[in-house]
Amino acid sequence: MDTIAVLGMGLLGRGFAENLLAKGHAVRVWNRTASRCEPAVELGAVAASTPEDAVRGASRVHLVLAEDTAVDAVIDALRPGLSDGAYVIDHSTNLPAGVAARFDRLRAEGIHYVHAPVFMGPSNSRDATGLMLLSGPAEDETTLRPLLEPMTGRVLYLGTEPDKAAKMKITGNAMLFMLTGAMGDLFRMGEASGVTTDEVFALFEQFSPTPAAMGRRALGAGDRPVGFTMVNARKDVRLMLETAGPERLSLLPAIAASMDAAIEAGRGAEDFSTLADPSRD
Ligand SMILES: NC(=O)c1ccc[n+]([C@@H]2O[C@H](COP(=O)([O-])OP(=O)(O)OC[C@H]3O[C@@H](n4cnc5c(N)ncnc54)[C@H](OP(=O)(O)O)[C@@H]3O)[C@@H](O)[C@H]2O)c1
Repeated sequence: MDTIAVLGMGLLGRGFAENLLAKGHAVRVWNRTASRCEPAVELGAVAASTPEDAVRGASRVHLVLAEDTAVDAVIDALRPGLSDGAYVIDHSTNLPAGVAARFDRLRAEGIHYVHAPVFMGPSNSRDATGLMLLSGPAEDETTLRPLLEPMTGRVLYLGTEPDKAAKMKITGNAMLFMLTGAMGDLFRMGEASGVTTDEVFALFEQFSPTPAAMGRRALGAGDRPVGFTMVNARKDVRLMLETAGPERLSLLPAIAASMDAAIEAGRGAEDFSTLADPSRD
């Protein structure tokens, strides 16, 4: 039976190992802090003491590490044990420029490196649910899709650019963090003014602006009559800051500063949504 190596037994990596073991694969694991291999070993994985030993004879290698510096260090360490033609599939969330440089360097040396970052949490990696991104040569998608699909809910192939998946991964995470900051601002405003979190959720069942709709409004704003001026939107942000106390908020103070700069630049009568139009910088 083929051996699969999973390097990185953090929150996500140990879930991948658990799922592969449950499907009957032979799994070899390695982690910088060796004790973190124990849960996978209890389920049947074999722990290796070095990356080189972990990948020896493995048909494919999954990296689930913190980021670029860890990925580069671990790839350097595993190389002497890597079988010819074995894929090194990197699920870590990395800098796109780091992925592009690593792809060029390793491919020139005959190593089949691909980047496949994920929108998956620990329970997704255990249950093979969620979304995995993949980009790079089309023939790699053909080879890897049948191997990766059983590890996730869906594999989204984003084309031949090797760092496209990295770019889209940080795009998605940026939205996650901004929405989290936005919800925090709303909850804090509510706390200060007597609106409960349940009432906030109930409002958005009736009134539900979406990211895509707001983005399209911003990009099309120049072609339509102004609907809501920047000056009036800035007034509303002042009301929010006065209600909550600006020091308690994450996003609204930054938005106020961007609106002030736009108004200062003579854009006060424009639609507020032009704040999101990158061509207006
Ligand atoms: N958790 C999530 O929900 C989630 C979702 C999507 C994407 N991601 C991404 O997936 C990756 C793994 O996430 P995670 O949540 O599993 O993180 P984690 O629990 O913090 O695990 C990080 C792993 O990287 C290893 N590591 C860090 N620096 C290293 C180095 N210099 N050399 C060798 N190994 C090193 C750690 O080893 P030690 O145990 O020795 O520290 C650990 O195995 C990250 O890029 C993360 O951003 C996570």
